[in-house]
Amino acid sequence: MQTDPLPLKVSGLSARYGVVPAINAIDMAVETGQIVTIIGANGAGKSTLIKTICGLVAPTAGRVELFGEDVTGQAPDKLVAKGLSVVPEGRRLFGEMTLLENLEMGAFSRNDAKAVRADLERVLDLFPELRDRLSTQASTFSGGQQQMIAVARALMSAPKMLLLDEPTIGLAPAIVDRIAELVTTIAASGVNILLVEQNAETALDVADYGYILEGGAIVSSDKASILAESEEVQRAYLGI
Ligand SMILES: Nc1ncnc2c1ncn2[C@@H]1O[C@H](COP(=O)(O)OP(=O)(O)OP(=O)(O)O)[C@@H](O)[C@H]1O
Ligand SMILES: [Mg+2]
Repeated sequence: MQTDPLPLKVSGLSARYGVVPAINAIDMAVETGQIVTIIGANGAGKSTLIKTICGLVAPTAGRVELFGEDVTGQAPDKLVAKGLSVVPEGRRLFGEMTLLENLEMGAFSRNDAKAVRADLERVLDLFPELRDRLSTQASTFSGGQQQMIAVARALMSAPKMLLLDEPTIGLAPAIVDRIAELVTTIAASGVNILLVEQNAETALDVADYGYILEGGAIVSSDKASILAESEEVQRAYLGI
């Protein structure tokens, strides 16, 4: 157990849509330097958990702590300024805007122009395939490239805690591997990561620790390597 404040700690977090419960009493944490994954099927509540952490859905109970600060229910833009950034489900790029404009949007909360410029260079180093296409309209990129743009945009806010909602869904295996490799590289650069995925194989491969989400509740959790070997996970999520 670490003694510094945890990058992310979620306690008893619940949310519902109208009368329909979506997540129920979720306890989970990301420790410093970790990649943590939440594995869950369609409708398990993965996106709701992310949206509730980042202030897009109001919790009905529970608490979210970011680096030791209670940030429960705070608005997304406030949380961005505190180091939390999200790569949302479905990417949500500004399709009519250029790649560069999308990246600039990621830095909207910052007023340190010089540092933003330096981060742009750093981000483009991570995505060499994007560097020469800064004035290209975002909607014209391939699915895999759009996912990379969504990750790059999230990195432009200089996050310390990054949430990724199913970044590999619908992508060809080679691109899935590329995204997985990027997640590892980003973590190694000092960004703590929560990766939500249906693709258990990839997620458990890159993650240090994992949680299994079913019907809005955490049903098990362990080191990712142990989950990947567990019979229950293999049967339900790995098709073994
Ligand atoms: N805006 C909404 N209004 C009403 N119900 C919703 C809404 N969004 C999600 N739900 C319901 O809440 C539950 C959890 O949905 P959620 O989108 O969080 O799951 P998910 O794990 O992200 O699924 P997926 O893998 O399909 O993205 C589901 O039963 C879903 O139908
Ligand atoms: Mg979802």
